[in-house]
Amino acid sequence: MLKKTCQDIVRFLYEYWTLNWRYRNIDYKVSSVLPNIENVGLPTKVGRNVFLAPDVTIDSYTSVADNCVIGKNTVSIGKFCSIGPNTTIGENMHPTDELSTSAAFYSPSWGISRENLVGSFNSKKVVIENDVWIGERALILPGVTIKNGAIIGAGAVVISDIDEYSVAVGNPARQVRKRFDEEVIDKIKELRWWEVDDPEKLLMLWQKFHKEKPVEIGDTVDWPSIIKK
Ligand SMILES: CC(C)(COP(=O)(O)OP(=O)(O)OC[C@H]1O[C@@H](n2cnc3c(N)ncnc32)[C@H](O)[C@@H]1OP(=O)(O)O)[C@@H](O)C(=O)NCCC(=O)NCCS
Repeated sequence: MLKKTCQDIVRFLYEYWTLNWRYRNIDYKVSSVLPNIENVGLPTKVGRNVFLAPDVTIDSYTSVADNCVIGKNTVSIGKFCSIGPNTTIGENMHPTDELSTSAAFYSPSWGISRENLVGSFNSKKVVIENDVWIGERALILPGVTIKNGAIIGAGAVVISDIDEYSVAVGNPARQVRKRFDEEVIDKIKELRWWEVDDPEKLLMLWQKFHKEKPVEIGDTVDWPSIIKK
């Protein structure tokens, strides 16, 4: 009883002092584990009970909702991404062509193997580019790149790359439509608006697009001039 109380106090101090201080510039809920602070862009929002592998890079304006696991096979999550709750990205793989699939044979912590071979069975990585929205309970398997502007439907199991501005749903995830006409997508790709640092310019771009939709952006919205201003 006393031991448990002491453990609770230590945990409380760790979470409310150490973590809160270390991650003071990031909006995260206590009980999430964040990666190295230098790998996180600002602002970033991280929900409750989120695990983020230490080497994952998360860029600014990205949110990761409650109960997500961003595993060791994830390289990076770009800017302006929204990761829905209970989503799992880039978790560990086990070998399929060895005597056993069990980690007991390649991870020394089990006491059988002296050699750590975890890395050799986990060479495929996940990259999430910018402005990607991943719906609730999606599963993104290692080796997948989800390109700029893509949307992944709730509950999707993504096993292969998803194209720019595609909407993909189901298990295995299939691309069912594009968010915009190809011409509009090409213009957005060219602009790379997510690289604009100035929040006012970003807002102007968003408002202009919002108002003039569905008119094609080509002639009506002079985005490059807003970016250059
Ligand atoms: C992917 C999504 C954005 C698509 O929305 P949409 O473009 O309005 O798509 P529609 O509802 O018109 O559906 C298009 C087709 O995909 C199917 N579909 C849509 N979402 C699906 C999903 N999550 N899983 C499987 N199929 C789905 C529809 O049944 C429809 O199929 P049909 O053409 O054969 O009838 C939306 O369905 C979704 O999953 N949103 C995630 C919501 C969420 O998780 N929010 C919380 C986290 S932030």
